[in-house]
Amino acid sequence: MDPYFLPKNFSLGTATASLQIEGGDTNNTWYRWCRQPGRIRDGSDCSVADDHWNRIREDIGIMKKLNVTTYRMSLEWSRIQPDIDSFDRDTLEHYRDEIGQLKKAGITPLVTLHHFSNPIWMEDSGGWIDESSIHRFERYAQVAARYLGDLVSDWVTINEPNVYLLLSYVNGTWPPGERSIIKYIRGARNMIRAHIAAYRIIHETRREMGHGDTKVGAAHHLRLFEPKRGTPGQRLAAFLQNRLFHEIFITGMSEGRFILPIGAGYPMGRGNYQDFLGINYYTREMVSFNITKPGQMFGDIGTREGAPVNDLGWELYPEGLYRFCKKYYRRFRVPIYITENGTADREDRFRARYIYDHLLQVSRLIEAGIDVQRYYHWSLMDNFEWAEGLEPRFGLVAVDYATQKRTIRPSGKFYAELCKNRGVTEAMIRKYF
Ligand code: NOJ
Repeated sequence: MDPYFLPKNFSLGTATASLQIEGGDTNNTWYRWCRQPGRIRDGSDCSVADDHWNRIREDIGIMKKLNVTTYRMSLEWSRIQPDIDSFDRDTLEHYRDEIGQLKKAGITPLVTLHHFSNPIWMEDSGGWIDESSIHRFERYAQVAARYLGDLVSDWVTINEPNVYLLLSYVNGTWPPGERSIIKYIRGARNMIRAHIAAYRIIHETRREMGHGDTKVGAAHHLRLFEPKRGTPGQRLAAFLQNRLFHEIFITGMSEGRFILPIGAGYPMGRGNYQDFLGINYYTREMVSFNITKPGQMFGDIGTREGAPVNDLGWELYPEGLYRFCKKYYRRFRVPIYITENGTADREDRFRARYIYDHLLQVSRLIEAGIDVQRYYHWSLMDNFEWAEGLEPRFGLVAVDYATQKRTIRPSGKFYAELCKNRGVTEAMIRKYF
């Protein structure tokens, strides 16, 4: 292992999402989902999670100890807009206070508007399958930008629309638990349009407020799909996965272009709708073609045999990050933010090495002239991992849910030193590996 360094202006941070950490909200679809037997693998639920809503000061204190200079968080739509006709001032004040505290601590917020959870009223009136979602989301984005726009310049509209739609409308393991590829395609159209509408309204709102430094993007989940052994059928399967899971979203949200099977042309106008490209990268998967699995986009998907994996069985494959960033930077030429990267490692056996390996790829990318500007580790602390419940541990900080005690893991200490030195020194290698 060798030392490496990142440029002075490179930003290092952590990421979370409101529903996974806040607790205390009963107005969202996940709260309701958790109440249905068998929906959450370990039987846990999101109603308390990390109780972050009541522990903002403490958690920002921990971020300071980690030496991060930026933090990706999300706003809970169901709290801000508890029903179709009203916006909740107290909630907006709560977020103003949180963001104010972050800024005082020298931490730049990157704020996500939609991270997998919907207000119950929104889902029950058609959710993302209904075209009304476009305007509803735009209105919510406008209110958020008006209320917080003096404090927040950097926004993520929608997190991982591909994962959200796949699990909610094709696999049926997330609310509302449907199984329809047609709905996936409809939802994709609406989410892309909603992203573009939000992109425009956030820029416009902040411009009217006198701010010119607005940056808006989306966070794309990129999973490297590779043909199992390279046969033509497997290559076709990898192509289909890539198109349906990545290309339709990244093309639509970046330049407004709809490609088959979601459509053709530029229904919202041609443009540049991302000031940065947000990439969430975790793993790769091997695929082969299976005509009987339309619900899995005609693919059999699995981990490479003998590959090193994390607690959820995901292959540890840092080179994938390099390959994606290079590919999409060449195509779009906008700065890249790694909006998420991390691993489930309850015993904290390989997280530090995971961070070392992935940021090594980032340093190689920068050397090769790829404009990667930020890295957000997922996650600040253990949290509610959706249908997997509280069991998987993604945190730099361990959380004891019985007491809400937070403890920085050794990998968290490693990351803290990495943030401070903006790189990995010889001494750190000796100490941690
Ligand atoms: C991506 C999602 O955005 C986040 O919510 C989730 O916890 C992580 N992946 C880990 O699965």
